[in-house]
Amino acid sequence: KGKRAFIAGVADDNGYGWAIAKSLAAAGAEILLGTWVPALNIFETSLRRGKFDESRKLPDGSLMEITKVYALDAVFDTLEDVPEDIKTNKRYAGSSNWTVKEVAECVKQDFGSIDILVHSLANGPEVTKPLLETSRNGYLAAVSASSGSSISLTYIAAEKIIPGYGGGMSSAKAALESDTRVLAFEAGRKHKVRVNTISAGPLRSRAAKAIGFIDMMIDYSLENAPLQKELSAEEVGNTAAFLASPLASAITGAVIYVDNGLNAMGVGV
Ligand code: NAI
Repeated sequence: KGKRAFIAGVADDNGYGWAIAKSLAAAGAEILLGTWVPALNIFETSLRRGKFDESRKLPDGSLMEITKVYALDAVFDTLEDVPEDIKTNKRYAGSSNWTVKEVAECVKQDFGSIDILVHSLANGPEVTKPLLETSRNGYLAAVSASSGSSISLTYIAAEKIIPGYGGGMSSAKAALESDTRVLAFEAGRKHKVRVNTISAGPLRSRAAKAIGFIDMMIDYSLENAPLQKELSAEEVGNTAAFLASPLASAITGAVIYVDNGLNAMGVGV
């Protein structure tokens, strides 16, 4: 029987989440998506109007089917956690049941259970500010949205200095990598669930463009990585599909680099 996957953090067809959904779909999984509430309307409209049909194409020529799209805001666990200005915000008012706990309950009601959970989202409101100048609120927001979960996406900034990746995002990724190990232990012992994170190289996604230095990072990688080619989102998607499959049955608590080998370099040449 095919597995059921929930991928949180898909709002267009450019990012890693979309590519992961495609690789999982190509491997036979049923696809459920969690889309950030303020981005939901435009994503669903584009989907309905066929704007993504070209990029929905799977290797066998069929189109990826998305069984259901859930509105999600990953920084709130329950409705009580949501501040008034967001509750009444008109981009949120049109949807309901979008806190993490509510989404989990809805998925449970709709489908019973899932087999694969992917966290492919991040939000650092002050990502363009150096850590020294980051406010407490900006820092906490970055950690709140950007860490947690079964397969997730991390970045080398968690362990090495990447100037420009600010606002506490480097801290959020460090938390994510540490949580990957501790959760692997706890969820492994308790539920036999595996937890891993993919440390991905630079991709020109919507989120990455907001940081402001993505083209430079892509050029840097092209020049300095062992494999001198541009990284495609599909390569990250395929790794996620592998990690979610029985082929990876002994891999847990791991940070898997999908970056053309850039992490292994000591100096640029
Ligand atoms: P993306 O823009 O496709 O994905 C980020 C998603 O997060 C968006 O769909 C956005 O709507 C969603 N989001 C933001 N705040 C949210 C919230 N509170 N609740 C629910 N959803 C929320 O961009 P990308 O780059 O594919 O990001 C996916 C993951 O990959 C992120 O964790 C990112 O840090 C990571 N990553 C990206 C790299 C890159 O160069 N693009 C490199 C290494 C890691």
